[in-house]
Amino acid sequence: MMKIICILLVVAFLAITNAFQSTSSVNRGRHSSISMIHPKRLPFIAGNWKMNTDLKSAIALATEVSELTKTCDPKKVEIAVCPPFPFLGQVGDIVSNSPSQIKLGAQNCFYELKGAYTGAVSAPMLKSVGCQYSLIGHSERRKIFSETDGAINHVVERVQEAGIIPILCIGETKEEYELGLNEEICTLQLCKDLKGLTPEQVSKIVIAYEPVWAIGTGLSATPEIAQSVHFAIRKWLRRIYGDDVAEMVRIQYGGSVTPETVDELMRCPDIDGALVGGASLVAKSFARIAMFNR
Ligand code: 13P
Repeated sequence: MMKIICILLVVAFLAITNAFQSTSSVNRGRHSSISMIHPKRLPFIAGNWKMNTDLKSAIALATEVSELTKTCDPKKVEIAVCPPFPFLGQVGDIVSNSPSQIKLGAQNCFYELKGAYTGAVSAPMLKSVGCQYSLIGHSERRKIFSETDGAINHVVERVQEAGIIPILCIGETKEEYELGLNEEICTLQLCKDLKGLTPEQVSKIVIAYEPVWAIGTGLSATPEIAQSVHFAIRKWLRRIYGDDVAEMVRIQYGGSVTPETVDELMRCPDIDGALVGGASLVAKSFARIAMFNR
């Protein structure tokens, strides 16, 4: 009981503090020239290969995905693959010639531009090997590598400066879900991760809602749960950044998406795509997900 009260108090406190900070960022962006229309959000299916494949199997997977998705119309669905860093170049060469115009994404990025940061990879480096997207703030990075919201906020800015589109991953843990705090946790993460960004900058990001309890567990959120969180995220975007931004930002769902679950998820009005882990390592499954039926 004590634990629940503590979590609720922290959430309330942070929500108040961060709502204020986010409002300031809107005010800072008020004078920037924003000319936004309401394009229909292009569905976006991305595969996060995580720490899987070696060079040979990465090339084989990219080649097969490219072949199996050749009938996908890039005007109707955008597809991306995010291989491990060492294979970005070769996988990029393959997908850059794909009939469905598959995009290349990185799985992470560091916020400094260059220097003595052993093992880190910068946004300009990713850009130089052809990355158009980068995942940021994946729950595995947050948990295993202790990446903080402050660092994630920096990376979002850096990646955008380099001309790469961030796919900002957010989502609650099992415990937070069981306490009914999924919407609060997601909007809280957004408050911190998007701090200081103008509405124009925010309009150009992709958000991936990935409930931690659904990642790699086979326990996909039901379409009803996923839609309700996506709706809450869009509502928050509308409140902080306005209607145009809220209508433009694509929100992917991630967490045990499979060929069997994708169609129903994609029928939800606020689900604009999927961020796929395990199933993206099987070309046939990933291609079927990219060919979802709405
Ligand atoms: P799974 O699809 O394996 O659950 O992974 C989801 C994920 O973490 C994508 O980033």
